[in-house]
Amino acid sequence: MTFDDFSTLARSRRTHMLVDRDREVGPETIERLCELATWAPNHKRTWPWRFASFTGDGRIRLGEAFVDDMCERGVGDQGKHLKTLGKYARTPAVVVVGCAANEHPTFHEENRDAVAAGIQNLLLGATALGLASFWSTAPLMDSRRAIELCGFDAGDRIVGVIYLGYPSSTVEAPERPPVSVRHIDS
Ligand SMILES: Cc1cc2nc3c(=O)[nH]c(=O)nc-3n(C[C@H](O)[C@H](O)[C@H](O)COP(=O)(O)O)c2cc1C
Repeated sequence: MTFDDFSTLARSRRTHMLVDRDREVGPETIERLCELATWAPNHKRTWPWRFASFTGDGRIRLGEAFVDDMCERGVGDQGKHLKTLGKYARTPAVVVVGCAANEHPTFHEENRDAVAAGIQNLLLGATALGLASFWSTAPLMDSRRAIELCGFDAGDRIVGVIYLGYPSSTVEAPERPPVSVRHIDS
């Protein structure tokens, strides 16, 4: 692979969920993408990534888990709760990516960095497979019910909720400001 090939892939990844809602994203595809995520760098080899895949009615259960915790904690209003209940059904598949805790404060932060790097692998893999992807922040990163539903440990945190589906449309790339690099060589 050339730099140009990789550059084209990285630049063509877009955050969007304009997808064919009737075209499933199979479990093998999800597993390939999650496995690809694990090739991210990971200081101390703590292997902190956690994955849970939601399709079909599972997507509704995910929304319910978040909303139950939001209500319990007084987070959001009724409109927000209603939106959250249905939002995970907007794409055929949703992958929740969690991060394991670490008792060492630096390793704890580095775990999250490694998981974020893993998510980028997953998104680029999805792009290479012709999938649309959308990294979203969970309504509660520490939702007890959602974490339980995902099968994660109680101390794990949700780093991203990733929507996946086959695109029905394309979107414009948001412009990036010019990059600025300070070179210090003496
Ligand atoms: C940690 C993280 C959390 C994000 N959460 C959201 C989100 O909750 N809602 C959303 O619309 N976009 C979210 N995004 C996606 C960004 O909005 C998106 O990357 C940005 O607009 C640039 O668009 P692009 O990814 O197509 O280049 C998130 C991105 C990251 C890295």
